[in-house]
Amino acid sequence: MSDLILGIETSCDETAAAVVERAQIVHSSVISSQVDRHAPFGGVVPEIAGRAHVEDLIPVVAEAIVSAGLEDRDLDAVAATTGPGLVGSLLIGVSAAKALSLVLDIPFVSVNHLEAHLYAAFLEESDLKLPLVVLLVSGGHTMLVLMEDHCRYRLLGSTLDDAAGEAFDKVARYIGLGYPGGPVIDQLAREGDRSAYEYPRPLVQENPMSMPEDRRFAFSFSGLKTAVVNHLRKDSEVCAADVAASFQEAVVDTLVTKARWAVQHTGARGLCLGGGVAANSRLRERFIDTCDDLAIRAFLPSRSMCTDNAAMVAAAGWWRLSMFGRSPLDTGAEPNQGLPVSIR
Ligand code: KG4
Ligand code: ZN
Repeated sequence: MSDLILGIETSCDETAAAVVERAQIVHSSVISSQVDRHAPFGGVVPEIAGRAHVEDLIPVVAEAIVSAGLEDRDLDAVAATTGPGLVGSLLIGVSAAKALSLVLDIPFVSVNHLEAHLYAAFLEESDLKLPLVVLLVSGGHTMLVLMEDHCRYRLLGSTLDDAAGEAFDKVARYIGLGYPGGPVIDQLAREGDRSAYEYPRPLVQENPMSMPEDRRFAFSFSGLKTAVVNHLRKDSEVCAADVAASFQEAVVDTLVTKARWAVQHTGARGLCLGGGVAANSRLRERFIDTCDDLAIRAFLPSRSMCTDNAAMVAAAGWWRLSMFGRSPLDTGAEPNQGLPVSIR
């Protein structure tokens, strides 16, 4: 059995490597963020991201192995994110992982980035209560998934347009708060009144059963973002902290309402939160309250595990390897790879 997995993450703007044992013990987790290089452009520039991964990956992998107190020959397998993400960025991590697999003669495991976010929650709490509803909210995705077993999922619904993190980033840019927007709005919202403005809760109705099934668990954040932008255009005197708090409340309210419906609909025994937006303070607070109220188990990764890192990649890689074995070395980068859904 392969126990020590080197994880590699290069799907977007973080170059990360980690060594994790049996998807439970994090021996090291190194992240080199490119945020400063992209900030002047107000978002991630794919060409800059790819070049930065080339420069940073080898030192980051070396630091992950050394700070774990290991040598490369101690590793049992290497897992890398193969998608979804920026193709030029993914290719750097995938190529490095395959090269290491060949040189060290250890298995290579292809990992889906969304599945990795999900496993971040179980790195810290391993006693799963299944079935489990997972709310995955990142800069590129927003979805509700039913996890029936390890690596076995059913997609309940996803966003029809913008992801929740994307809405945070766009609203922050409009207010002039810089990039990435989520953490700044989270901070600013603490000083604001979340009931100051009643922004829309998209695709949320009083009675969920009256909604068509394909909309009940779906999200839409583009209209909400436009409502905020139109409000700011009309009234330039408005208090930015109140806008941030009211916008954040509308997003969080929508996310937790749908997650609650999903638990009630599926009879799940737990609720798990994953993805970069899971670092949001108000979402974390409402998520825990909802789980308490439903008397179900809350799986919530620590903040540092919410945003992109390689420990979650190594953890998901260990499960994939245990259940399905190694991935072929002709596996490529798949920029639009969906969560590996086994049942519909
Ligand atoms: O998962 P992630 O690190 O990268 C993707 O896979 O997309 O998520 C990044 C997203 C960004 O949109 C960022 O603004 C958002 O997560 N984010 C937050 C917070 N921290 C990061 N959104 C709201 N509140 C936060 N505290
Ligand atoms: Zn991510």
